[in-house]
Amino acid sequence: MPKKLFVIGVGPGSPSYLTDVAKYAITKSRYVIGYKYTLTIIKDVIDKNKQQVSEITMQNQETIYNDVYNKMAHNDYCTVPFTGDVNFSESEVVDRLLEIFGDDNVEIIPGISSIQIAAAKSKVPLDKACVITFHVSGDIEGKKMELIDAVVNGKSVILLPRPWPKDPKKNFMQSDIAIFLRKKGVDTSSIKVCVFEHLTQDGKETVFKGKISNLEGKYFDPLSVMVIDQVKRQTYLQLVS
Ligand SMILES: C[S@@+](CC[C@H](N)C(=O)[O-])C[C@H]1O[C@@H](n2cnc3c(N)ncnc32)[C@H](O)[C@@H]1O
Repeated sequence: MPKKLFVIGVGPGSPSYLTDVAKYAITKSRYVIGYKYTLTIIKDVIDKNKQQVSEITMQNQETIYNDVYNKMAHNDYCTVPFTGDVNFSESEVVDRLLEIFGDDNVEIIPGISSIQIAAAKSKVPLDKACVITFHVSGDIEGKKMELIDAVVNGKSVILLPRPWPKDPKKNFMQSDIAIFLRKKGVDTSSIKVCVFEHLTQDGKETVFKGKISNLEGKYFDPLSVMVIDQVKRQTYLQLVS
């Protein structure tokens, strides 16, 4: 049997959002590879006598994925946990893992995204929102156009900003977004916004509610989700004749 990989979603902050399927994947694995943040979320599920845990950084992840893959015996399972839902804003790494292990040997187990938690807290349904991640390494100009289109057309937007600590020119955080929208002619003083930091992290969670214009000059943690709320509520009473 080939070497198998579980790619699982955990958190986005609290272990209470861990699914039983994700826990099962961890317990079945001989190896677990993850960033410090995700390893902390699953620490109570890991049995150090059964799982060999490797903590990775952006700098050493390529080496560690390959080292573990080469060390694995046939029949071995490895788990790589990702924050929130592994199917959202994680593809740069997931695509590499699919290359290393081969599609047929990888099982992707979804988790609960920070986007879903923000939708729940702001009461902006996902199906009435444009969902955008700016948390990508590549060019974001197309995504900025998508943002403008959605806002101008009265849609709500749930988005992940782009923190880039090593090169602040590449930041596209809440203040940058507010300035960008104003400069594109949007009346940012009339549109509601929420920013959620540290979602589901006990004692650390914060929420800011105001208008988009209030975000200019304001700092938010990289671990944050922004919701532009233009929802018009419509119940079945208005729709059924
Ligand atoms: C690489 S993306 C991963 C998104 C993740 N897959 C998800 O479904 O939430 C990382 C970004 O997700 C957002 N994020 C992840 N966990 C969060 C949390 N607990 N609270 C607020 N934002 C979070 C932040 O914007 C963070 O910079």
